Amino acid sequence: MKTIFSGIQPTGVITLGNYIGAIKQFIELQNEYQCYFCIVDQHAITVPQDKQELRKAIRSLAAFYLAVGIDPNKATIFIQSEVPAHAQAGWIMQCISYIGELERMTQFKDKSKTQREGVSSGLLTYPPLMAADILLYKTDVVPVGDDQKQHLELTRDLAERFNKRYGELLTIPEVRMPKAGSKIMALQEPTKKMSKSDPNKKSTITLLDDPSVIEKKIKSAVTDTDGVVKYDKENKPGISNLMEIHSIFSGLSFTEIENAFKDKGYGDFKADVARVVLNELVPIQNRYYELLNSSELDDILDEGARKANIAANKTLKKIENAIGLGRKRK
Ligand code: TYM
Repeated sequence: MKTIFSGIQPTGVITLGNYIGAIKQFIELQNEYQCYFCIVDQHAITVPQDKQELRKAIRSLAAFYLAVGIDPNKATIFIQSEVPAHAQAGWIMQCISYIGELERMTQFKDKSKTQREGVSSGLLTYPPLMAADILLYKTDVVPVGDDQKQHLELTRDLAERFNKRYGELLTIPEVRMPKAGSKIMALQEPTKKMSKSDPNKKSTITLLDDPSVIEKKIKSAVTDTDGVVKYDKENKPGISNLMEIHSIFSGLSFTEIENAFKDKGYGDFKADVARVVLNELVPIQNRYYELLNSSELDDILDEGARKANIAANKTLKKIENAIGLGRKRK
């Protein structure tokens, strides 16, 4: 059976972008693959985090993984910092990465540009840790949104470099992106990605927004003035983004949506986008609140950490043996 690995940072509440770009793929894939879904808390601390908020966000993300329909009997759900092999292999990946290639990562360039406080060296060495996450599980496929594509290319480069230097040991992973929705755009600025850290809260839908707030945000999404519901990413980025969202939740094609709203205005269309989104999100929100304070959640994370430690330590030992670290072990 092939293996899937993916991770999400526990920073704030996950967004509609995270849900469509990543999580919806996880649910589809859990029946066909051996899956590891990680809460990457060590990645979160590359920028300053409040301790209480971080703890809250870790638990919240775990509850979301379950609330959206990830089945812990099929997939392993765990917290990155509870599997020390990630940091250990992360160091090794750093030692085979070049500063130049890390400085070329667009996420590093963007984040280091906008950050006012000191830029941590962790922000630079974040991609080798991400490579370690993936490579430790002999991962075949990594489901992510468009913004992680470059990190995945680096992961492949590092794995190939490792194999060339130390012998064929690491699996070269493939990236998997959803056919539609790999980059959900900000509602107020539809040429830029929807992001948790957007200071304009009207741009981002989080999975915990009240239904009335979600409706309002969709209604006030920036569109255009020609009044035609038509998919045209270049000239109509706002409407096209809403059409992608609609299509993902309703299952209708762009042509079917265009036909359904042929003689209707943007008001009707936006109301229908809100309807299909809420149809899916409200039951998730209800399950989320039930799970959040349950002891079941801790049991699942304990079991996830146990399984992940076994798999990750096995690969880490092989990596260390291949390099010559420590003493030779079986
Ligand atoms: P993160 O936490 O920023 O995002 C989690 C996932 O959500 C996707 N995503 C989006 N997809 C579509 N539209 C959007 N607007 C949008 N915003 C976010 C991301 O592409 C991602 O799939 N570096 C990763 C976390 C990570 C990881 C890993 C992922 C660490 N180790 C190993 C895969 C494998 C990140 O910061 O994702």
